[in-house]
Amino acid sequence: MPDLHSEHRITATIGTDNFALITGASGGIGACFARALAARGRNLALVARSRDKLEALKTEIAAKYSLRIEIIEQDLSVEGAAARLAASLKERGIGVDLLVNNAGFGSNGEFWKLPLDREASMLRLNIVTLTELTHVLMPAMIERRNGGVINISSTASFQPIPYTAVYAATKAYVTSFSMALAEEVSGYGVKVMALCPGGTATNFFAAGEFDNVNLPGGLQSPEDVVETGLRAFDRGRSLAVTRFLNRLMVFVQRLAPRRLVAQQAGDMFRPKNLHAGK
Ligand SMILES: NC(=O)c1ccc[n+]([C@@H]2O[C@H](COP(=O)([O-])OP(=O)(O)OC[C@H]3O[C@@H](n4cnc5c(N)ncnc54)[C@H](OP(=O)(O)O)[C@@H]3O)[C@@H](O)[C@H]2O)c1
Repeated sequence: MPDLHSEHRITATIGTDNFALITGASGGIGACFARALAARGRNLALVARSRDKLEALKTEIAAKYSLRIEIIEQDLSVEGAAARLAASLKERGIGVDLLVNNAGFGSNGEFWKLPLDREASMLRLNIVTLTELTHVLMPAMIERRNGGVINISSTASFQPIPYTAVYAATKAYVTSFSMALAEEVSGYGVKVMALCPGGTATNFFAAGEFDNVNLPGGLQSPEDVVETGLRAFDRGRSLAVTRFLNRLMVFVQRLAPRRLVAQQAGDMFRPKNLHAGK
């Protein structure tokens, strides 16, 4: 008879693959994902740069649920970030069966005036780290014939957007990559979904120093975004656009000339001190 005293049971828990890894979990949509997945009984690996915010979230969740919650303080916008994160996961015995690639940021202004180092960081965070993390964590999911990836894209992914040109292009990549990958891996029992919120009430616009945000329908709550996302993921969708108005806009603009769509998107994000046509 094996000795099933508590130490062995704890070791067994540590060896499980029931972890959801959430990048950008220190606030906004990522923190809401953490709360919602905790309610579903998931162990959590929470990653972001702000340790204090991650600790506060851990305390809040641990008061309600008996789960294993790991905090990893890391800047994911630097080269080699995904490999370093994978090494931390291995060191701590964390097996991930749900990856939520959520960390991301945007910027607002004329492309040629925006600091290039920040645009390059955006490309690394929104595209490179997301891709590398997926590549590093997917083989184990495929081997187990179980797992999933939710990539937080945006309604910005469906059209070019002047004055947030690089951000919109990064999200076009995320939606395209996610939907292609979803088809590739569905036969292995692994799900991939691009979640596309429209404007959401988080720190996003302040962090990206958006000077002008004139979005029809106002901002959605991050809780709603996550609820819609998890429902769509449960149903096996490879694309989820939140809110009816956003879905309508995505549909209608497919019928309009692409240049006109880009011009109108530019009207919504043009900094206040710039005049139309400039
Ligand atoms: N809010 C919107 O309107 C909206 C709409 C569509 C899509 N999205 C997407 O939703 C995702 C989440 O954004 P949010 O709206 O929740 O914005 P947010 O409140 O600004 O949260 C962004 C999260 O990403 C983390 N992060 C930023 N830079 C990072 C870095 N270099 N390394 C590691 N973590 C980093 C931040 O944590 P630290 O600062 O602690 O590192 C924070 O936890 C993003 O991918 C965004 O593009 C947002």
